[in-house]
Amino acid sequence: MKIYNNILETIGNTPFVRLNKITKDVKATVLAKVETSNPGNSVKDRMAVKMIEDAEKAGLIKPGGTIIEGTSGNTGMGLALACIIKGYKLICVLNDKQSKEKMDILRAVGAEVVVCPTAVDPSDPRSYYSVSRRLAAETPNSWYVNQYDNLSNRQAHYESTGPEIWEQTEGKITHFVVGVGTGGTISGVGKYLKEKNPNIKIWGIDTYGSVFKKYKETGIFDESEIYPYVTEGIGEDILPQNVDFDVIDLFEKVTDKDAAVYTRRLAREEGIFVGNSAGAAIKGVLQLSGELKEDDVVVVLFHDHGSRYVGKIFNDDWMREQGFLEESIKTAADVIAKNATQKNKMLYSSELIAHAVANIRKFGYSQFPVVKEGKIVGSVDEDLIYEKLTQNPENCNASLESIMKAPFPIVREETTLEEISALITPTNKAVLVDKKDGTYHIISRYDIIEALS
Ligand SMILES: Cc1ncc(COP(=O)(O)O)c(C=O)c1O
Repeated sequence: MKIYNNILETIGNTPFVRLNKITKDVKATVLAKVETSNPGNSVKDRMAVKMIEDAEKAGLIKPGGTIIEGTSGNTGMGLALACIIKGYKLICVLNDKQSKEKMDILRAVGAEVVVCPTAVDPSDPRSYYSVSRRLAAETPNSWYVNQYDNLSNRQAHYESTGPEIWEQTEGKITHFVVGVGTGGTISGVGKYLKEKNPNIKIWGIDTYGSVFKKYKETGIFDESEIYPYVTEGIGEDILPQNVDFDVIDLFEKVTDKDAAVYTRRLAREEGIFVGNSAGAAIKGVLQLSGELKEDDVVVVLFHDHGSRYVGKIFNDDWMREQGFLEESIKTAADVIAKNATQKNKMLYSSELIAHAVANIRKFGYSQFPVVKEGKIVGSVDEDLIYEKLTQNPENCNASLESIMKAPFPIVREETTLEEISALITPTNKAVLVDKKDGTYHIISRYDIIEALS
C-alpha cells in the first residue's frame, strides 16, 4: 500500500498530456504539463510548501505564527494547505480583479481574505503589495512570504518541476513555454533545463499591460506599458526578483481575448479544464509556431484548474460583457440580445434641457428619444444640447419640445446591421427598434461600434 502521511506529500509528479486538436497545425510535438492534480489544483503548491519550509529552517516563522501573503489565489491555496498541516494562521491579500471563486476557495480552507483595488500604483498604500507589507508589520509573530522576491519560489521549481519535465521527456524537450507572473516557474524550470541542455529554449508568455517583454528586449522598465488587463496570474507592473531574465529567451504577449478564448478551447477541444494562463500559454505557442520544427518537443505548463474561472472565462455573460464571445451580430435583434440589460430611457417633451443634461450624466447615454402623450415625437442628442447651451446658457431652461429634432427612425428586429448603420449619420445619432410589444429599444452609434468590434 502506498499511503501518503499528509496531503502535502501528494504534491508533484503531475501528468504529461499530448495536445491533439488545438495544435494540429504546429509541426512540433506539443505536450502539456497539467498541474491541476496537485492537491491545491495548481503548480503553486510546490513553491508554497518550499517557501514555508525554508522560512522554518531560517527561523523566520515560529509555531502558531501567522503567514501573510499577497496572492492571486493559487499560492494562497498552496500556503493554506501547508498552514493546516503545519499549524499556522494565514492571511491572503488579493486584488479585486481576482475571481470570486478564488476568494471563496481560500476561505474554504481557513484563510482570512483581504481584498484591495487593482487600479492603483504598487507604491500606493491601498495596493495589495503595500497592504500585505503593512499587515505583516502590524501582526505579532507573523511572516510575510513575498512570493515575488522570495527566491525559494524559483528554487522549488528548480528542485521539482524542472527535473520532472526533464525525466518525463527523457531529455527530449526542446522548448519550455509558460505564463510568467512572479517568474518562479519559468526561472526555476528554465535554469534546471538549461543546465541539462543549454540549447533548450525558454519562452515566457506575457500580457498586454505588463512590463516583462519590453524590459527583456530593451532593458527599459517602461511605465507606459502598464495598464489594467483581464488575464489572471501572469504579467506584472513590477520586476520580481524571481524573474531570471538570463534564462528566458523571449517573451510573447497574448491578448486578454485570445487567452480567454483559448482557455475555453482547451476545455472543449482537448477536455483539459484549466485556467486563464493556460489559454494564454497555448495561444503563445501558436503565435510562435513559425519558429518550431518537426522534431521539436514543446512542453507547455498549465498552471491551475478551470473551476476557478467558472464565473468568468467559462461564463457566457461575462465573456459577452468583455466582448470576448465571437458571436455573429447581424440584425437589430442580435444587438438587443447583446445589450439585454440596457435601460431604455426616454425623455418627456415638457422636460427642460437641464433635465436632459442630468440624464446624460446619470445614464452615460449621448442621445434620447422624446415622447409626448405616449407617442415618440422627437429626439435630442449631445451635439444639439451643446449647440443650444453655447448659443445661450439660459437655454438650460428651454423645453425639449422647443429644441428637439426629428424622431429617430424606427426599424424592425429583423433589420440588418448594414441597414441600421446607413441610417445612423452625423445628424441622426440612433434608431429605435420596434419590439412589437409597445416598447422600443434604442441602438446608437456606440452600440454599432461595440457590435462590430
Ligand atoms: C494561474 C497562474 N498562472 C500563471 C502564474 C505565473 O506563475 P509564476 O508566478 O511562477 O511566474 C500564476 C502565478 O500566480 C498563476 O496563478
